[in-house]
Amino acid sequence: MHHYLKPLDATQQPAWQALRTQREQMQAFSLREAFAADPQRFQRYSLNSGGLFLDYSKNLIDARSQQLLVELAEQMNLRQAIEQLFAGAPLNASENRPALHTALRRPIGDRVLVDGVDVMPQVHRVLAQMTELVQRIHNGLWRGFSEKPITDVVNIGIGGSFLGPQLVSEALLPFAQRGVRCHYLANIDGSEFHELTAELCAETTLFIVSSKSFGTLETLKNAQAARRWVLAQGARESDLHRHFIAVSSNRQAAVAFGIAEENIFPMWDWVGGRYSLWSAIGLPIALAIGMGNFKELLSGAYEMDQHFLSAPFAENMPVLLGLLGVWYGDFWDSHSHAILPYDHHLRNFNQHLQQLDMESNGKRVRQDGSPVSCGTGPVIWGGVGCNGQHAYHQLLHQGTQLIPADFIVPVTSYNPLADHHQWLYANCLSQSQALMCGKTRAEAEAELRAQGLAEEEVQRLAPHKAIPGNRPSNTLVLERVSPQRLGALIALYEHKVFVQSVIWGINAFDQWGVELGKELGKNVYGHLTGQEPGPAKDGSTQGLIEFFRARHRG
Ligand code: F6P
Repeated sequence: MHHYLKPLDATQQPAWQALRTQREQMQAFSLREAFAADPQRFQRYSLNSGGLFLDYSKNLIDARSQQLLVELAEQMNLRQAIEQLFAGAPLNASENRPALHTALRRPIGDRVLVDGVDVMPQVHRVLAQMTELVQRIHNGLWRGFSEKPITDVVNIGIGGSFLGPQLVSEALLPFAQRGVRCHYLANIDGSEFHELTAELCAETTLFIVSSKSFGTLETLKNAQAARRWVLAQGARESDLHRHFIAVSSNRQAAVAFGIAEENIFPMWDWVGGRYSLWSAIGLPIALAIGMGNFKELLSGAYEMDQHFLSAPFAENMPVLLGLLGVWYGDFWDSHSHAILPYDHHLRNFNQHLQQLDMESNGKRVRQDGSPVSCGTGPVIWGGVGCNGQHAYHQLLHQGTQLIPADFIVPVTSYNPLADHHQWLYANCLSQSQALMCGKTRAEAEAELRAQGLAEEEVQRLAPHKAIPGNRPSNTLVLERVSPQRLGALIALYEHKVFVQSVIWGINAFDQWGVELGKELGKNVYGHLTGQEPGPAKDGSTQGLIEFFRARHRG
């Protein structure tokens, strides 16, 4: 039996026990003191890879904790697991599939076998098919029902068939090609459909129905609505192939829906939805930024893949980020992790990472079905700086929870404006500095005294003004948000999530919890519309159904 089917229990490893002791010994660990004691701390705990610079010196670690975390990874056979991931072993054991998103960024000539078949020729065939489509659209050769060239592309998809493409096309806006605008339609909420189509003209709009399964309710309902809309705007049934293409691993269902065979771009079972932006699911990205830039994105991810495969754990960016997450979650009682990009174009990065991380590592049993004996994936949240500083950062500074944060910032802005970028960069750094240094009670008192306040007032205010500090963070610096750097950044987080799943012994590539909601959704819809006899399964749901039925007006 492969070791991933009978995972080791991390909590039973010698390194885990040693980390427990280490944690106790670090009760009084102070980041301020650690920096004062070691002038090399920044150099010691920072590294460069894939055009990304990671400063992880503001973490609650010393040489021994880092060494023990690396030992834990070794004891959990992480090296072997990484090799299996890249080689296509069926690590998604509950669905008996590999998770080969890394194959999507490999160069021509590489070989990756799935069930004895080299998948690389298919991968590059689809890239060529994408290139042809992008060229036809960019050159105005793809025409709508009235022979006008396509000007707008709407990606209909949800989850991984939406978040990754949206993030990348939004983040790489400075690379946008003129002539075609990309839009996203994800939710089943009719308001989204109405607001979007109100801006569009069917004659010049192409819809990409993007669904690995071609069975996702929201996507299929929106695709049907789009078809009705195109027909209502004057197209005939025989024109529909000019307005609909699909990306799916379920060709049959796409054909049954009415997509022309030649308009279906394949993807594969061995690519997970939340890891699929590198496949034809990335078509809206390629349409937005051009195929050359899309390939740069792939090459940046490939660079990170090579780093992940070959760098020693103590110098391996995804491994270090993954281990730090385990350290805080399982030893410091931390339950969430903030993603704080200081870049307008990366403002929705946390949405993609939420699915990537929480759908992957929101698990409670290990690969063999036994319950985990430690905490698993954290809540991922966050948002763009500086905006967050005036909203939720307060809780990071003075709340009762320990919330590690990743600050992400480019050195160069595509839109320089006076000294705004220097201020943005400075704010990013000063936030992580404030989290780390805080303000001691004595410092708060001294400040208040310097303002000439009476001692009684000083004592009244000081507890409110003292800030504990010692709150950990990573800072990731990119030279600029380019296709290549962004590719590396996203791949970094994919691998971080994988590292953690190996430590916890869980399957990062299935998502059975999501399925229950889908099943119950159908059942509740049946009750709501009177198609399902009898009352709903529980009194609350039944009460809410009755409330709706008594008042519903459309
Ligand atoms: O319901 C969750 C999910 O299965 C995600 O994992 C996936 O990315 C999303 O739905 C969309 O699935 P599909 O591409 O098959 O429509």
